[in-house]
Amino acid sequence: MSLRVVAVFFLVLNTITFAIKAQTIIKNAKIKEPDYSIPQLLTTQSGVQIKTFKEWEATRRPEILALFESEVYGTQPKGIYNLSYKILENDTVALQNSAIRKQCAIKVTTARDSLQFNLLMYIPKSISQPPPVFLGYNFYGNHTITNDPAVYVSKSWVMNSSSMGTNHNTATEATRGKRLHRWPIEAIIKAGFAVATMHYGDVDPDKNDFSDGIHRLLSNSKQKFENNKSWGNIASWAWGLSRLMDYLVEDIAIDAKKVIIFGHSRLGKAALWAGALDQRFSMIISNDSGCGGAALFRRKEGETIKDINANFPHWFAAKFKKYDDNEDKLPVDQHLLLSLIAPRPLYIASAENDLWADPKGEYLSAYYATPVYELYGKEGILSKNLPPTGQPIYQDIGYHIREGDHNLTAYDWLQFIAFAKKHF
Ligand code: GCU
Repeated sequence: MSLRVVAVFFLVLNTITFAIKAQTIIKNAKIKEPDYSIPQLLTTQSGVQIKTFKEWEATRRPEILALFESEVYGTQPKGIYNLSYKILENDTVALQNSAIRKQCAIKVTTARDSLQFNLLMYIPKSISQPPPVFLGYNFYGNHTITNDPAVYVSKSWVMNSSSMGTNHNTATEATRGKRLHRWPIEAIIKAGFAVATMHYGDVDPDKNDFSDGIHRLLSNSKQKFENNKSWGNIASWAWGLSRLMDYLVEDIAIDAKKVIIFGHSRLGKAALWAGALDQRFSMIISNDSGCGGAALFRRKEGETIKDINANFPHWFAAKFKKYDDNEDKLPVDQHLLLSLIAPRPLYIASAENDLWADPKGEYLSAYYATPVYELYGKEGILSKNLPPTGQPIYQDIGYHIREGDHNLTAYDWLQFIAFAKKHF
């Protein structure tokens, strides 16, 4: 080979290496880290330093929980209600005889009225003991997550969506199976997990109206509905997840000590808040939950408090609006929300192109929540740098960032299953 050929070869090689490096720099620059300082995790509001998990549980944890209730999500009313369950349908040879399908009506009755939720479950038949269960809301009705013709079409309010073909806030047979791509039920069953899901609008329609759903039922009839705005829809959806848990505790077909709650996007926000409030959930998964979910507010990357309050005024406590363009005054940030889940396994998933949800902010929340996991001798996230795309972390706090957009994909599910298998 002549010297000239060798020189050209190295020149080409150098150019390619430079191009790859430049691309990496551009990609990292896209997710920049602005200046901000976040509230202290292990110092109480009165300045006491927390050194043990006992001190954490006795003082700092309740303090943080109360701050999220008063400033962010609102307080779930302690109203009196009665719960009753009715199995509507039970098929022991579902999914080619690999699972049991159960549809169960959960009825909440208060002095004012009653409301019925429809829970759909698939339980694997391949294992002898009661299996762990993935529990999460769906966006458009139970019938949309499967082609199974026996699943009832949702009767409650559903979101209008041109991509789903739903309008007039009603679901029809035409949307059966339309969300199949987000729910790999067969793969979940095959891995030895049950799946339990319910349409989130069953608990509270996703609209700025506090005169419907569980808000209406749990309000004091002497109060005006506006007074009830102290708890937004994220809190009411979290309330609904806990009622599903009440049912699961009674169902001997599944292992209620291994209930994994998960949610995508707004439903990921609800899953995190439910996991913080209700310690019966033993694993929590947030997928692309973004602003009001896992992402740090103070980074002000992607969706901000002002954006979310303007577009979804009914999601949070009325008081949360005072933090529009005023993040620094908020006494909490979302690493504190994640810390409330410790020591239970927590998994945060992001997507590279989902800049509205601020992937780096979702990751850093997990990083900054880690000291609480360490109080319990658990392992959280140790580096401030995002792991490479497609290389998940499976410590007691798990994380991945994958290629692609805001979505719930087969790749995400593979990691959730692997994470759950590792920790159960
Ligand atoms: C909007 C909203 C997000 C939310 C998302 C979703 O994009 O701004 O905060 O997570 O909807 O739930 O799909």
